[in-house]
Amino acid sequence: MLLALCTWPEVAARLETSDAIVVPIGSTEQHGPTGVIGTDALCAEAVAKGVGEATDALVAPTLSLGMAQHHLAFTGTITLRPSTLIAVIGDMIASLRRHGFRRFFFVNGHGGNIATLQAAFSEIHAEASLAGRDGGLSFAIHNWWDGPQVVALSKELYGDRCGAHATPPEIAVTQHLYPEAAAKTAELGAFDPSCRGFGDAADFRRLYPEGRIASDPSLARPEHGARLLAAAIEEATGRFRDFVGG
Ligand code: NI
Repeated sequence: MLLALCTWPEVAARLETSDAIVVPIGSTEQHGPTGVIGTDALCAEAVAKGVGEATDALVAPTLSLGMAQHHLAFTGTITLRPSTLIAVIGDMIASLRRHGFRRFFFVNGHGGNIATLQAAFSEIHAEASLAGRDGGLSFAIHNWWDGPQVVALSKELYGDRCGAHATPPEIAVTQHLYPEAAAKTAELGAFDPSCRGFGDAADFRRLYPEGRIASDPSLARPEHGARLLAAAIEEATGRFRDFVGG
């Protein structure tokens, strides 16, 4: 159930039986010449909604802005600084904690969010630890694209052409979800399998002028997206059940 579609008495009633909530987090950033800007947020949201439907868990509003500074040299990208994202997550968790939520399962759609999410959790834990009290909160990050089931299916569909950004699996999921995404076409340059480290946005654009990293998004198909999303939901649901059961 989406938090956005609950009334406050309904949320209060749910808290009687569960203090867990699923939080989708993505990014608003370029995904190569054929991928939509919302890819990471749209994928994370779809997986999180699926977990909510499978488990009857509450699903928080999608955090659509992430840490995407390295994509800013491509038009349409919006980033939060790491410090801003830490503050946003901190305020969101503090709000939900006030109501009684204690366990937070983040379904993440963007690799660039991971370090900042972990720093945000450390900040929250440090508050309790430094004050000498038991904070009683637990957090998990599930990157929907890198569980064993999704990785195996991605490999089966795309071999060694998945790459690290604007990947065919994530593009396929958006194609399955949105006809607008499936209609994008562009002339892509030669496939480049190299994956190099990058610094700021200018450096990223120099290294990856089309915006993709070692990926071949032209292989993505909406029907792949349906299979990948089903696998991702099953995998994330298992992880969520372990998290709340543990
Ligand atoms: Ni992405």
